[in-house]
Amino acid sequence: MKILVTGADGQLGMSFREVAEGSGHEFLFTSSVPSEGTMKLDITDAEEVSRVVAAEGTDVIINCAGYTDVAKAEQEPDKALKVNAEAVGYLAEAARSAGALLVHISTDYVFDGRSGVPYAEDAQPAPLSAYGRSKLAGETAVLASGCRHLIIRSAWLYSVYGNNFVKTIYEKTASQPVIKVVSDQIGTPTYAGDLVEFIMSLLEDDIEIKDGIYNYTNEGVCSWYDLAWEVCRLSGHLCDVLPCRTADYPTGVERPHFSVLDKTKVRETFGIGIPHWADSLRFCLSKFE
Ligand SMILES: NC(=O)c1ccc[n+]([C@@H]2O[C@H](COP(=O)([O-])OP(=O)(O)OC[C@H]3O[C@@H](n4cnc5c(N)ncnc54)[C@H](OP(=O)(O)O)[C@@H]3O)[C@@H](O)[C@H]2O)c1
Repeated sequence: MKILVTGADGQLGMSFREVAEGSGHEFLFTSSVPSEGTMKLDITDAEEVSRVVAAEGTDVIINCAGYTDVAKAEQEPDKALKVNAEAVGYLAEAARSAGALLVHISTDYVFDGRSGVPYAEDAQPAPLSAYGRSKLAGETAVLASGCRHLIIRSAWLYSVYGNNFVKTIYEKTASQPVIKVVSDQIGTPTYAGDLVEFIMSLLEDDIEIKDGIYNYTNEGVCSWYDLAWEVCRLSGHLCDVLPCRTADYPTGVERPHFSVLDKTKVRETFGIGIPHWADSLRFCLSKFE
């Protein structure tokens, strides 16, 4: 299959680059600014999107591009909407014209976090932030387009690439004697390599794919504090990781207090096992210097 990956310089895009060789598929990696190993594709440029997708004979588009700065999105919601919704509409339209499958990555931030139980795919979204609203609008654009699609809602992504919570905590616990981390936001981390492996498994020839929304994170539940504590412990760093409340550290953006995603649908539809977050964290940290 010919697979076009957008946002290939981001952490999820970089994680796809790791598996390209030997996958049996032909990959085309693209980024808004061309870099080594990528071709230019700014997904907000409708003409460029339709030209590249059509010219490359694409079977699958994996959209790893996104406006992902949750705090900054509050200051520039239009820009977040342009990348996370309008441009996703362009990709969906191009996928529909080419008969390609669009794999689009969405987020737990489409929910308000007021549930006491994990969110299934058909739970009512109610985003609290500009980022969450833009991502929900992106889902709507895909669903409205009529293209073949998989919308995969994930959460708390980390990897050895880019900026992410695990890398930040790894560095802070190595250099500071005490750090405080919020303990009243509960969710599930996702190692980007596991998400990539899951998506790649769906592209095998014998898998019948039913369009729709699917949740995929690692298994288990924790707070940001628990995750930070485990990063510190597994890294052998001598730092006191202390819990604090979100209210004590206002960031100007409201985040869900509970955003665990229910993965029954992916487990039952695809018969997959999902690694626990603590096991995947240990694996990822083993790749840190
Ligand atoms: N990170 C998380 O915790 C998390 C959780 C759930 C879902 N997701 C979703 O997963 C996807 C991947 O996230 P990530 O963590 O890999 O994000 P990331 O590291 O911030 O990567 C996003 C990439 O998108 C690129 N991009 C932005 N605007 C673009 C444009 N107009 N055209 C082409 N590329 C563009 C960025 O590059 P430039 O800015 O240089 O253009 C960047 O390389 C996103 O859709 C995100 O919403 C992330």
